[in-house]
Amino acid sequence: MEKTDVDRLRSLDREHMWYPWTPMAEWMAHDQLVVERADGCWLIDPEGRRYLDGRSSMGMNLHGHGRAELVEALVAQARRAGETTLYRVSHPAAVELAARLAGMAPPGLKRVFFAESGSTAVETALKAAYAYWVAKGQPQRSTFVSMAGGYHGETLGTISLRGTNTTQPDMIRALYAPLLYPSLAFDQPHCYRCPVGKTRDGCALECADSLEEILSREKDRIAAVVVEPRVQPLAGVVTAPEGHLAKVAEITRRHGVLLIADEVLTGWGRTGTTFSCEAEGVSPDLLTVGKALTGGYLPLSATLATEEIFDAFRGGAFLSGSTYSGYALGAAVALASLDLYEKEDVLGRARALAEVLAAGLEPFRALPHVGDVRQLGLVAGVEIVADRETRTPFPPQDRVAHRICDRARDHGVLVNPVPGDVITLLPSPSMSHEDLRFLTGTLLRAVREVTGT
Ligand SMILES: Cc1ncc(COP(=O)(O)O)c(C=O)c1O
Repeated sequence: MEKTDVDRLRSLDREHMWYPWTPMAEWMAHDQLVVERADGCWLIDPEGRRYLDGRSSMGMNLHGHGRAELVEALVAQARRAGETTLYRVSHPAAVELAARLAGMAPPGLKRVFFAESGSTAVETALKAAYAYWVAKGQPQRSTFVSMAGGYHGETLGTISLRGTNTTQPDMIRALYAPLLYPSLAFDQPHCYRCPVGKTRDGCALECADSLEEILSREKDRIAAVVVEPRVQPLAGVVTAPEGHLAKVAEITRRHGVLLIADEVLTGWGRTGTTFSCEAEGVSPDLLTVGKALTGGYLPLSATLATEEIFDAFRGGAFLSGSTYSGYALGAAVALASLDLYEKEDVLGRARALAEVLAAGLEPFRALPHVGDVRQLGLVAGVEIVADRETRTPFPPQDRVAHRICDRARDHGVLVNPVPGDVITLLPSPSMSHEDLRFLTGTLLRAVREVTGT
């Protein structure tokens, strides 16, 4: 791109664009990174500078950019039919994809309802759970229970699910509070900042007892328990101790409540199994997928349900959907992505890469301002603290994690900060071992430079 084109773009950007979650005055004060093209896991700006994408575009990218197989599937479907909707018509790609997803999901999840984003997949699961209870003659079951700090999207329905009893203030939930429905939250399985004051050695998963208390107390008012299975990436990569998910599932079942597993980010091998639930033998009643479903190439998501849930709707209709439900282009690309997932053993690659990531994260533990390093598969977080002994954070206005991420970007690596000064790493399973070592090495350098260690 010519310099004049870049300047024009920047001026249009300042004039017209409005970015998500972005302080706009600060954004407009600087020249921002423009991704003009991409190659594998590298993003390239108009001046030809290359940035290694350590966040796989928020967990979307599964196979790398420029994959001919995905582009060809997209073009072939566009030639056959550029769009379709699933209202009173069907199309082959959606049907094939539904069958394929049912075959890969934890046992029992046979029915597939399509949407276009992670948030709308979760909304669908919430509506299906409530409508199920209405059909069962229990309309009073209208309350949802989620895990504190959980992240399920940006619609009002999914913001309502964000549990509040965590150490982190939730600005989004606070802002929209008058528009939200009430929900309940059980303790976060946060081993570094344990909500029930245990250490890992002396832990008998007591943090899950708060779920037992809520379900015993609220009895038949609860529609479903909603969890991100085994890791809460956006809460600061809170990795649950082994057995926690199974315990949550057992408590939920024993109280006759539905279980919704939100695998929008954890699906497709990111945590070491195709779905994170599998690792603890948990089969939820409803499961959501999105992001990497199409390899990140098109927006498509799905809510999978058991036949038991579906049967409640058999005599009527599920009053939910959108114009883009089961979008043909997305479904065709998702099928091609799942072909690659199997053919290229993405799961095996993700597991091997997770070991490289673990080795690359090891040196962080010795740094005086690194409080904790957490990892589950290809989801990792480095928590920066002012004082390691007392685990005291830096004042939020210091924006330490932001500054570290900015410094890493200056050195050619993109990673995200989340509140609580946790730097999150979400590398694509398609990243080479060498690139991943560059990623962790560069981040280490940035942490040292910014914290002066
Ligand atoms: C677990 C989880 N659920 C839902 C969402 C929302 O997905 P989307 O941004 O596609 O609406 C996200 C996004 O990060 C997520 O991590």
